Amino acid sequence: MSDIFEKVVRNMGPLGDHIKEAHGYFTFPKLEGEIGPKMIFNGKEKLNWSLNNYLGLANHPEVRKADADAAAQYGMAYPMGARMMSGNSNPHEQLERELAAFVGKEDTILLNFGYQGVVSIIDAMVDRHDVIVYDAESHACIVDGVRLHAGHRFQFKHNDMESCEKQLQRATRLVEKSGGGIFVITEGVFGMSGNQGNLKGIAELKNKYSFRLFVDDAHGFGTMGKTGSGTAEEQGVIDQVDLHFSTFAKSMASIGAFVAGPKAILDYLRYNLRSQIYAKSLPMPLVIGALKRLDLIRTKPELKDNLWKIVNALQSGLRQAGFEIGTTSTPVTPVILNGTVAESTHLTFDLRENFDIFCSIVVYPVIPKGQIILRLIPTAVHSLEDVSRTIKAFTEIKNNLAAGKYKHDKLMNAAL
Ligand SMILES: Cc1ncc(COP(=O)(O)O)c(C=O)c1O
Repeated sequence: MSDIFEKVVRNMGPLGDHIKEAHGYFTFPKLEGEIGPKMIFNGKEKLNWSLNNYLGLANHPEVRKADADAAAQYGMAYPMGARMMSGNSNPHEQLERELAAFVGKEDTILLNFGYQGVVSIIDAMVDRHDVIVYDAESHACIVDGVRLHAGHRFQFKHNDMESCEKQLQRATRLVEKSGGGIFVITEGVFGMSGNQGNLKGIAELKNKYSFRLFVDDAHGFGTMGKTGSGTAEEQGVIDQVDLHFSTFAKSMASIGAFVAGPKAILDYLRYNLRSQIYAKSLPMPLVIGALKRLDLIRTKPELKDNLWKIVNALQSGLRQAGFEIGTTSTPVTPVILNGTVAESTHLTFDLRENFDIFCSIVVYPVIPKGQIILRLIPTAVHSLEDVSRTIKAFTEIKNNLAAGKYKHDKLMNAAL
């Protein structure tokens, strides 16, 4: 027998193991000041590429005013209770109607958090007779939703349609016996690589196999497609995506999320989605703030145009400077370098302290040993000057890494 408390402090987990060296600097850093490309870190202004504020709405004056006015009028409590019991309102329903129209679906349901919403949607949609087929690089919320599933689940290799078809064949054999159905899950935009999910390829498989497709388009909302409604619009497959999810945590620069689809299915979810039935409704300022943000996305296409101007300048500039940025076709920009975890910390320290550039860094065990990914998120409020400054700094960093400068960085160890 062991004590639960003793067990967890003995093994803090793959990220928690680095708490001593990392906490407050590499993990849980504090970015202060107005949200935007220039923020304060450790008391000094940094050029910031780490926020999913794609359209720059976090600090848009109309957004700030709508949020403040709604908070002054309603406070943060209203409406109290779960939607089903006592927490419904006209603005909640209006936002659902407007989101549905924007993403080309009949109906939507608001979710308090994207992560919990996706887990709960998967849980509500399948039972033990059904089979889930999902992309191997899916976000944790999909993985955790799949974990709740009592029936079979098959992973297909990331974006690999041959592998997807193979798994659909296995799944079809099983459901022919069980009488269940097949639920295919993927993402619109994969947040680490910037790859688009192959929605079109999966949609084509509907000609041969019977399944329903659920897409998590957290990073695609506001950034992809002609109107910004998402990756399904970008790939011309809105009608083939059966359930569409997105969060307000990225382009909308807020909190909350939604799922969209046919009215009958959304009515089923309304009465069976445990993450919403057993949780308080979204506070009114978040709902009214989301209506304002959606209005800006619909009426100000220049926000998305500005975003893509920066994306294109950054990605083509990095490629021209000889950087490996993988196969991104979205704003997410991974800069892939080779080095150890120790080198990645010294390099990041140099980038932050000597070049005043702040971005996220991804290392083993999230990606294979020996790789370092510096992940840049361009936004509509970055400038072309920010882009050129960054490419220049990255070139120096890359040369330093190749010259072995980050193998032993006493400077950083002394400073932390
Ligand atoms: C692909 C994807 N799905 C879901 C979520 C979770 O959304 P939320 O932050 O609203 O919980 C995220 C991250 O925010 C995400 O990147």
